[in-house]
Amino acid sequence: MAALRTALHGRLLHALPFSFGSLRFASSFKAADLVIERNAACKQKPDPSTLVFGKQFSDHMLTINWSEKDGWQAPQIKPFQNLSLHPASSALHYSIELFEGMKAFRGVDNHVRLFRPMLNMERMHRSAERSCLPLFDKGELLECIKKLVEVDQEWVPFSQDTSLYIRPTFIGIEVSFSREANCEAMLFVIVGPVGPYFATGSFNPVSLLADPSFVRAWQGGVGAYKMGGNYGPTIAVQSEAVKRGCQQVLWLYGEQEEITEVGTMNLFIYWTNENGEKELFTPPLDGIILPGVTRQSLLDLSEAGLICKEAFSTRVYRTGEFKVTEHDGHAGAAGGSGLWEGPGGVRGGDGLRGVSRGQPPLQGNDVPGPDYSERSGQEVPHRAY
Ligand SMILES: Cc1ncc(COP(=O)(O)O)c(C=O)c1O
Repeated sequence: MAALRTALHGRLLHALPFSFGSLRFASSFKAADLVIERNAACKQKPDPSTLVFGKQFSDHMLTINWSEKDGWQAPQIKPFQNLSLHPASSALHYSIELFEGMKAFRGVDNHVRLFRPMLNMERMHRSAERSCLPLFDKGELLECIKKLVEVDQEWVPFSQDTSLYIRPTFIGIEVSFSREANCEAMLFVIVGPVGPYFATGSFNPVSLLADPSFVRAWQGGVGAYKMGGNYGPTIAVQSEAVKRGCQQVLWLYGEQEEITEVGTMNLFIYWTNENGEKELFTPPLDGIILPGVTRQSLLDLSEAGLICKEAFSTRVYRTGEFKVTEHDGHAGAAGGSGLWEGPGGVRGGDGLRGVSRGQPPLQGNDVPGPDYSERSGQEVPHRAY
């Protein structure tokens, strides 16, 4: 167990950020300093049945400015408005931009709840450090976001299939073409009511394009961080998938064509193995996978025996353990917001493909993921996998 822990720790080091001189940014803004200016001209709320993803926004936004000279300014909640940016702002030229995606839900008891928001704050903090943007106190940012949701609470839809999407964003606004660390930055948060991410609904199967000539992220790159620069280049690939009759892209990586993620979702395989036992797998956080909150939550729930109860084991698979093959097969996947199982519509560049388990290529630093077949069935643990 100790050996596993040491090995796992070594693996996590790949996924977690190294320090980029963060002492320079040791201070933070405080939620207690929030200044709130209410919108006097609030808009009509949309009919929840017409909602799509990311097209409608609420009446307010949160902004927090930072400069190297003056540090963090007081956070402000103000009427939703356009940003005014100098055309030479670093975000516009060098993609110094990172973001988060999280949701607030209205329960049947009418209470509004955020879903594990601290995990988003932690991921945002890691992305800020990797982007050389100033650091902040995660708890203080969360308090400011809660206040924004409270101010715009009427925008949390009164309907079960919808939610309030929260988009914290952090950009460099340094006016300079130099590629040095930013001296000016702006953190802002906008929110808006959303419907299902897929037009086909949340629980219907989607077909996937698996073409190894497209790569989303690579070792040594920044795929494990939620930076805008990771997403822009995938739009053309997504269009290609649609052109070839698929709904999403199955991202492959490396000579072994390992399966990594689907579109903007983590992936799970719910598998019946050679012995007829069901197993739940997901790729390891080895630096090219975004550590999703949903992924973490599915692993936590599965470990606690609260989902996939019939699964014989749940584990993070070894690098290269699963790959797309030329044969038809049964693939299942779980995304940012759901889990599905069954025959996979996986289309390769040259015909229909399936997913198979082969012999994983064991490499020097390749360690097996934790095996969760022994379950406590007690509280849901919170661990990074
Ligand atoms: C590349 C990628 N993987 C996975 C996810 C899922 O992350 P989460 O479960 O935190 O929404 C996202 C979310 O947008 C993503 O962009």
